[in-house]
Amino acid sequence: MQIFGVDIGGSGIKGAPVDLDKGDVSQKRFKVLTPHPATLDGVADGVKQVVRRFGWSGPVGLTFPGVVTAKSTIRSAANVDKTWIGTDARALFSERLGGLPVTVVNDADAAGVAEMRFGAGKGRTGTVILLTFGTGIGSALFSDGVLVPNTEFGHLELGGTDAEQRASSKAKEEAGLSWEQWANRVRRYLTHVEMLFSPNLIIVGGGISRDSDKFFHFLDGIQAEIVPAQLHNDAGIVGAAMCAARTDPFVKFSVTHGKAHG
Ligand code: BGC
Repeated sequence: MQIFGVDIGGSGIKGAPVDLDKGDVSQKRFKVLTPHPATLDGVADGVKQVVRRFGWSGPVGLTFPGVVTAKSTIRSAANVDKTWIGTDARALFSERLGGLPVTVVNDADAAGVAEMRFGAGKGRTGTVILLTFGTGIGSALFSDGVLVPNTEFGHLELGGTDAEQRASSKAKEEAGLSWEQWANRVRRYLTHVEMLFSPNLIIVGGGISRDSDKFFHFLDGIQAEIVPAQLHNDAGIVGAAMCAARTDPFVKFSVTHGKAHG
């Protein structure tokens, strides 16, 4: 079965049809830049361009970089325009896509679902936390394979400020930190997460997971096993499609599907 997946990130909107049996994109993904400011109109247009590019006319799963309620209302917008807050994202995107059935989930939750099913979390029980390091820090918490949606661990306080302001990969770039300097911040952050949740496994995701050999050796002193994500930048696309399909056992959480006015 194939479903279209779209990952809306702080820097790019990317998508591709996903083969749900393989857990992989079935065609090379297409990406447009996220508009700045990332307004409703601009982002919805970007999504339309990506979906249209493939001539897709079936169901679409989308990620959003903020809290998405089970009824698809956006509740937070740390790295996109604040006008998103209160928006019915499913209605907006479905309308812009000419009435295609749409599902919207948090970006880290989508990535987590994909990693648990096809990647670094496959077969893992106990408490598993996926953290994505990108424009912000996203989180997905699993207890014996069941997702607790919208956890928002990127906004835990670290050194008197929002953790993602100090330890995201954007923070690394903006402050011109070396791998070691940045990894020291990540280690402090993971120590804090570990103190609160005692996970068995921490999966480090986001684009930066490709560079794990450059900084994992600095992450000492954490009790939990720490592994890089395996689906890297495609995790959000694959997870979004899985959530839209609803057939997967990892998609147990409540999420609304359907058309704009359906
Ligand atoms: C948002 C999260 C999101 C993360 C990664 C954070 O700022 O609050 O919802 O998952 O960034 O995009």
